[in-house]
Amino acid sequence: MKNLVCDPKLFDKDLSGTVTIVTGANSGTGLATVQQLVKQGAHVIAACRRVAAGQEAVGSIEGERGSVEVMELDLASLASVRSFVQAFAEKHDRLDALVNNAGVMNTPEGKTVDGFETQFGVNHLGHFLLTELLLDTLKKSAPSRIVCVASAAHAGMSGKVAELHLDDLDFERRGYDPTLSYNQSKLAMVIYARHLAGRLEGTGVSAFSVHPGWVRSNLIKHTMPTWVQNWVMRPFGGLMGLMGPEEGAQTQLHCLLDDDAPKHSGEFYSQNAMFYEDKKDKAGGWPMRSPNPLVYDDALAARLFDVSNELVGLAQA
Ligand SMILES: NC(=O)c1ccc[n+]([C@@H]2O[C@H](COP(=O)([O-])OP(=O)(O)OC[C@H]3O[C@@H](n4cnc5c(N)ncnc54)[C@H](OP(=O)(O)O)[C@@H]3O)[C@@H](O)[C@H]2O)c1
Repeated sequence: MKNLVCDPKLFDKDLSGTVTIVTGANSGTGLATVQQLVKQGAHVIAACRRVAAGQEAVGSIEGERGSVEVMELDLASLASVRSFVQAFAEKHDRLDALVNNAGVMNTPEGKTVDGFETQFGVNHLGHFLLTELLLDTLKKSAPSRIVCVASAAHAGMSGKVAELHLDDLDFERRGYDPTLSYNQSKLAMVIYARHLAGRLEGTGVSAFSVHPGWVRSNLIKHTMPTWVQNWVMRPFGGLMGLMGPEEGAQTQLHCLLDDDAPKHSGEFYSQNAMFYEDKKDKAGGWPMRSPNPLVYDDALAARLFDVSNELVGLAQA
């Protein structure tokens, strides 16, 4: 499969003076995104659950044109998200881009600090609160961009559908299934990005959701040992689309850097993916129509927004 890659001219853009937050920045596509933005002169906040791992990872970036700062952010804790935003606001008064990149996949049944099912809590609700709390700063800094790193799984994976059960987000009334939970959390991110774009029309803030591709990273650790994916599958994995983190960061970098992207605010950008059922979708597209019709259900998006607002405690604010 052919990988979609950024126009090299985008990597010549001078990002000096800009501030970007990348969540889950200590490995995988998050780290690759930070490395590229800092090369171009940006100041990047690497928002990491494990600060020491973040510091070690970004150590390799020293000497580039821009700068990087590691800050603590645990998306499994609403209090941590609030503390992060407060600490960010004490140091910065602008935000040019927010990359909601962190994620977990196929975790065993579990709950976040606040009692939400782990994958929905980390992938969607943590990023939802983070984004909502940063919206005023993003608006003040417009033109600015929000990129939600979702997945092809938002349209289903391993023969399992992707649905949003707003009445049972935590799998309390149905048996827990790690794949269905991942699919649900990523579908929520795609729906939220599209809803955000609608709310932000006319503000100069654009929002996108992306599928980064099938990327060699730690994400697979709850599905199979990482060494199986990274070494055993490496020789033939490439034929099925398996790629390195730099290639996996291309789709989000395109959304962050391409001049035309804001005209497509709300749309879904996808690297190639063998998981899509329809042959024409497998090549991906920047942007492409999501194969999941639920993405275009405005009533569902409005309900997801209300429910998320309630769950993270913003409805009472
Ligand atoms: N790899 C793929 O094939 C693939 C395919 C589709 C979509 N994606 C999406 O791409 C994104 C990046 O994944 P990746 O492949 O680069 O995987 P990765 O290397 O495992 O990176 C995930 C990042 O998220 C962080 N994270 C996990 N739980 C967190 C929490 N509670 N709070 C804050 N950060 C947390 C991890 O931190 P720790 O190191 O501390 O755990 C890590 O930095 C994810 O959203 C993933 O769902 C990946």
